Amino acid sequence: MEVVVVPTAEDAAVLVADAYQALLTATPTAVLGLATGSTPLPLYRELIRRHREEGLSFREARGFLLDEYVGLPPGHPESYRQFIRAELERHVDFAPDAIVGPGDAGRDPLAAGPAYEEAIRAAGGIDLQILGIGADGHLAFNMPMSSLSSRTRVKTLTPRTRQDNARFFGGDVDLVPTHCLTQGLATILDSRHAILLGFGRGKAQAVREAVEGPLSARWPASVLQLHPHATIVVDEDAASQLA
Ligand code: F6R
Repeated sequence: MEVVVVPTAEDAAVLVADAYQALLTATPTAVLGLATGSTPLPLYRELIRRHREEGLSFREARGFLLDEYVGLPPGHPESYRQFIRAELERHVDFAPDAIVGPGDAGRDPLAAGPAYEEAIRAAGGIDLQILGIGADGHLAFNMPMSSLSSRTRVKTLTPRTRQDNARFFGGDVDLVPTHCLTQGLATILDSRHAILLGFGRGKAQAVREAVEGPLSARWPASVLQLHPHATIVVDEDAASQLA
């Protein structure tokens, strides 16, 4: 695991965009793992800029989302699939259907997990997985105490997570789905390169536990200590509790 401390989220975006661009140059069909949330937004903006101003092309590239709510209708603005469309996909030249999410496989959420694992395998695996981190150390929807050997599966959202996410659903917790589909921690470990981004003081404890704490389901991101190629890119605030 390597830790890179940068001054700002925009500096991190340039660094990670460089890594993805190098990968795409070597392998135009490379598979990207996509996180949602606020953390990867500067990266997605930088990729869009490179596409518009420098001709970076995603024509042959493919992508797999980390996670998705269960039960939202297709195209729902708060679905993670729609988030990636709005924040990245529709601004660049990914081929139609090049990006898929765990909810795309069909109506049966219990079958969707194994189907998603199979789709990732059939695509040759994820070359570069982008990750954010929750203040409690969660990765994707793998909350504290998730199994370190978990694979893509349905999870029940905790009351806390539904409450936290209610702001995206007009403040009404009853509109927040009760379940999600998420890549598991072992799925994430299978990626060839995982880059975890973390910005701000609110992430400092989780970053410390992920990097320096014992490997523990209490802090799911600590599973990255087992990853053969993990890069943690953080700003000074998020790095402030590192030794
Ligand atoms: C998103 C995801 C989540 C977020 C995490 C941090 O696909 O899997 O684990 O990365 O909740 O969220 P932000 O980036 O909004 O602080």
